[in-house]
Amino acid sequence: MARHINAASPREIIFTRNATEALNLVAFTYGLANVRAGDEIVLCISEHHSNLVPWQQVARIKGASLKYLYLDQDYRLVMEEVRSRITRHTRVVAVAHMSNVLGTIYPVAEVAEWAHRQGAVVVVDAAQRCPICQLMSRH
Ligand SMILES: Cc1ncc(COP(=O)(O)O)c(C=O)c1O
Repeated sequence: MARHINAASPREIIFTRNATEALNLVAFTYGLANVRAGDEIVLCISEHHSNLVPWQQVARIKGASLKYLYLDQDYRLVMEEVRSRITRHTRVVAVAHMSNVLGTIYPVAEVAEWAHRQGAVVVVDAAQRCPICQLMSRH
């Protein structure tokens, strides 16, 4: 699995029952410990409920707010939108790599590069993308 996702070490992998449990695990451990009142959590508008509900709950518990990345008319996530919504107030960015609704692939590496420069942590929901990532990279 570490080879499949290009992890530096198998010690980076935690197995869970499913993606929903994994996302809840991140939100209710890292999220609760690090999100503070007044922080912003940024999600893409097309997120699966599994990557939306836990962050709604963390935001409510901690007094943080949710902000959404909107897609353009071709359902693409453009960097202009990313740069305007992810700011120094952003604590966590939670985005799917591939949308289960649209099948579109979002530029998560670029999103992460920008988010990290703002001091945010990025959570990627790769439920759709992970199974096919090696297949995709061969093309
Ligand atoms: C993008 C995305 N995130 C999360 C999930 C939830 O996955 P699971 O059923 O493994 O909890 C799905 C399920 O289809 C999904 O497509």
